[in-house]
This record gives sequence, C-alpha cells and structure tokens, in this order.
Amino acid sequence: MNRIVLLLVLLTVSLGCMADSPKGAKPAAVQSAKAAPVNVVPQINVIPRPAKVQAGEGEFVITAKTQIVCNKLFRKEAEYLRDRIKTATGWNLGISEAAPSDDAINLLQNRSCNLWNAERYTLEVSAKRVVMIGESPAGIFHGIQTLRQLLPVEIESAKPVLDVRWVVPGVKIQDNPRYEWRGLMIDEGRHFFGKAYVKQILEQMALRKMNVFHWHLTDMPGWRIEIKAWPKLATVGGKGDDTDPNGPVKYYTQDDIREIVAYAKARHIMVVPEIDMPGHATAANRAYPEFSGGGSKKHPEFTFNPGSEKCYSYLTDILKETAELFPAPFLHYGGDEAHFGNKKWSSLPGVQALMKKENLKDLIAVEQFFNRRMATVIDSLGKTTVGWDEIVNAGVPADKCIVMWWRHTTPKALATALSKGYKVVLCPRVPCYFDFVQHASHKVGRRWKGKYGTLKLAYEYPVFPEGTPMDKLGQIVGIQANLWTEKVGSTARANFMTYPRLSAIAEAGWSTGEKDFTDFQRRLKPMLKRLDLHGVNYFNPFDLEKTPEMNVHGTVKNPGKKK
Ligand code: ACM
Repeated sequence: MNRIVLLLVLLTVSLGCMADSPKGAKPAAVQSAKAAPVNVVPQINVIPRPAKVQAGEGEFVITAKTQIVCNKLFRKEAEYLRDRIKTATGWNLGISEAAPSDDAINLLQNRSCNLWNAERYTLEVSAKRVVMIGESPAGIFHGIQTLRQLLPVEIESAKPVLDVRWVVPGVKIQDNPRYEWRGLMIDEGRHFFGKAYVKQILEQMALRKMNVFHWHLTDMPGWRIEIKAWPKLATVGGKGDDTDPNGPVKYYTQDDIREIVAYAKARHIMVVPEIDMPGHATAANRAYPEFSGGGSKKHPEFTFNPGSEKCYSYLTDILKETAELFPAPFLHYGGDEAHFGNKKWSSLPGVQALMKKENLKDLIAVEQFFNRRMATVIDSLGKTTVGWDEIVNAGVPADKCIVMWWRHTTPKALATALSKGYKVVLCPRVPCYFDFVQHASHKVGRRWKGKYGTLKLAYEYPVFPEGTPMDKLGQIVGIQANLWTEKVGSTARANFMTYPRLSAIAEAGWSTGEKDFTDFQRRLKPMLKRLDLHGVNYFNPFDLEKTPEMNVHGTVKNPGKKK
C-alpha cells in the first residue's frame, strides 16, 4: 500500500512538470552545473530537442551506490542503462524492482494513459532522485537517451574515466515525438559493410531516438540476404560490389539477420527489409537468369520478368522467407526506376500475353500490374507494403501501403500520394539523401542541379513543396534519411556522409516547435565529442580542416595538406 502511495506521489510530481514553472521556484542547475536564474529554461545539450524543458532543483550525482529502480516491464531498459553507465564509471549499478526511492534512477510506468502515445516520457531530475515515467518500454528507452545526453559526454568513453563527477542537472522534461517513423536507410546492395557497422549505426540511431532501420539488401551489384529456397541469390548474387564486381561474396546469413533484428529490437528500432523489384534486379538475375526481364545497355539484366508465372512464384518464395525473418509489420519492395531497363518487356511472349489478357496498354501499365500483384503477396504474408513513390499510380489499396516520397523534383508524386489517402514517409533527395555532398567544398558525392544536402537544410526539414495538400499532412507518418552507396565504399566514408546530418534528420523527425539552427549547432558540438569517444568518423562543419573530405574508399587525399 505504501508503495502505491509513493508511486502516486511521484507520478503526480512528474506529471506536474507539464505545468508552467511556479513563480519563485528555486534556481536550477544547468549542464555547466552553474545556477540558472528563476524560470530560465536550462540550456541542455540534448538532440533531438525535447518538447518541453524546465528548470529543476539542484543536481543529481550518480555514484557507485546509485540504484536503478524499475517497474518490471522496464527491466531490459534498466539493464541497457546500467550497461551504458558501466564502462565509463566502472560501476555496475544495482537494479531493483522495489518501491521507487531516493538516491535512485526510478523508471516508472504511467498506467493511466492507455498507451495512446507509447513513445512519450517525462523526466524529472532533482538532487534527491531521478524519476522517469513512460507508458511503454519505448518511452522509457527514449528517456534513457535523454538522461545519457544530460550526463557529461565522457559517459560515452570506451574505458573507465576516473576524474569526472557524474552530474545530471536538475531539470523537468516532458517529451514526445512529432512523427512515428524516424528512419535511416542503408544501401548494402552497392557496398557491403557488415554486422559491426550495422550495430554501430543502430546504436547511433537509438541515441537520437530514431526507430526505423530500412535495410536496402538487394540491388544491381549485390544481393545481401540468404534465401534458403534460392541459395544462389546470396552465393552468386552476393559476389562483388560497385567498386569491384569480381570481389568476394558478401551477404548476411539468416542467423546474422536474426542477430541484427534482436540488437535493433533491444533499442526499440524496427528493421524494415527492402527487396527491390521489378527493377534493380541485376544481382538476382546473375544467380537465376531464367527470371530476368532484361535490361538496357546502361543497366543490363535490370528487371524481373512480369510476364512469367514462375517468376511470380520465385519472388513469392523470396518475400515469404524475408517476411518470416523480420518481425516488422512492413515489407519494402522497391518499385523504383523500372524504366531504366524495362524496354525488353514488350518483346517477351509472356508479357505480350499478359498485356492482352489484362488489357494493359503500355509498359507502365505492366509495371503497375506487377506492383499491384506483388503488394497482394505482401498483404497475404500479413505485412503492409512499403514502396518508393513510383507506386502511387499502381492502384495498391491505400490502407495496405506506405509511400516513400523521394523524387524532390516531382512534388506531384507527394501530392498524389496524399490525395489518394496513402500514408507517406518523406525522404526527398535534397536534403534526405546522404550520398549528396554536405558542404560547398566537397567534390565526392552527388549534387542535383547544384543543390546538395547541407546540415542546415536537413535541420530545417520538413518544408512542403508548393501543391502539397496541406489538409492531408496528418497522413505523413515520418521522415527518413537514405544513404545510397554508389560513392560510399568504406565504413569511414559512410560515417563521414552520415554524421552530423543524422542528428539533424533525427531532430526533424522528433522535435516540434520553432527551429533554431544556432541552438542546434550549440547542442551538436557535444554530440561530435560523443562520436569521438565512440571512435566514429564524421564531417565536422565547425572545423573543416579537422575532417577533410575523403574519397569513395575512405582515404583522404593529401591528408597533411590544409584545404
Ligand atoms: C531511389 O533513389 N531510386 C529510390
């Protein structure tokens, strides 16, 4: 009974932080541990910026004796927090499921809100205790990322640091995401990076409260996922990459994939696989040429054959195994750029027969038929289809499909998707494609008619193009960054292109309220220090000489020479 009373008191206190700060509140400690004047919002260094931040009282100091007290629903999150704290401090904090207490980090559940917004949390730090309240493990996990960023950056050290006081400034935070889909896509069809890299990316996403890892596993140079029913996809299709077509075979076994999915799940990240079709199928067609629909001079053997029943059942086998491997309720089937290599379709007897039977007037209608049919397969596997924005006119039912708007020069595709009732993830090339250069001085990477993806543009996103039906913005479920890897042949270069833009896109997806690029830059500096401590490469927009541009393979031209 006593425990319930204390819990109710803590809940009331924490939910009270939603109200404005009372007049006469005591001065607050801020990140610098200096006292702030009454009612001044403390300058905390958290990315993405929380929805509401108020001054708290005093500061909480973590010591070897600090306990983590948790509702048993949050045991895994408590263990994650303990492990994050352990390396730098050397302390293995105790975890208990006892009553909330002082001298503890309390992870509590707010049961009164019926999980209507499972990702939100409140965090109240005072000299006596830390109280975090969430409605779900995901909410608590996001709160832990905030707490982690409130600590001195040395908490990210890979070895014990002895001379740091582990102080958390007094603060009251109330936080929730703007969008439910905060994604990052990595293209491993062009270049394969491996499990250690993927885990690093997932941890960085978690730190920034991102929750969807879109894994582009198949493309022209390589097929990177083991399919047991069709083993040559990996063993033949997995050979080589965009740099070296004759390079070694590289792919993820199904055990590798289960390991990554579990690692992501522990960080509240959903993994959405992409098996690209009907185009971008070159690697698959190397393995099983009997299902090729041909290509073009520039893109040989680029497509699957939409006129072959055997091809549909082959693709169904592939999607079935993929659906079983990934618990996410979504399956991405590409759907982009079929026109790069579909000219041969009109000469294929199977396609000619299909056109006649289904009354399809041209190759676009054939492509749309293919997209509809494969979306039906995905639906039958119990998943929602995700596709690039070319699929908006295919006639896939709006409640069974999410559209990714990527063609920034085709705002009509976004408008059409919204008008037809589709849910949409925004990822226009500029500023969401991380293979575009991020600084005027950079030469390796894409530009589009001079435009490229600066940190500022990424931070200021979303900006809706003219013609967007503004009454339909509620259908936009999120924002995603995409790292295509034609010009990214090493993990060092992948990281150089990803950071610090990932922080900007994460904030675009999570935070509400007015944009303030100056304040974002202030908060970014400690984030770069975290990357240093993680041993992760990045582009430093504050000191260009420190991080000269690297080439596709991650080496720097004239590293000693000042730019
Ligand atoms: C794409 O960039 N082809 C989706």
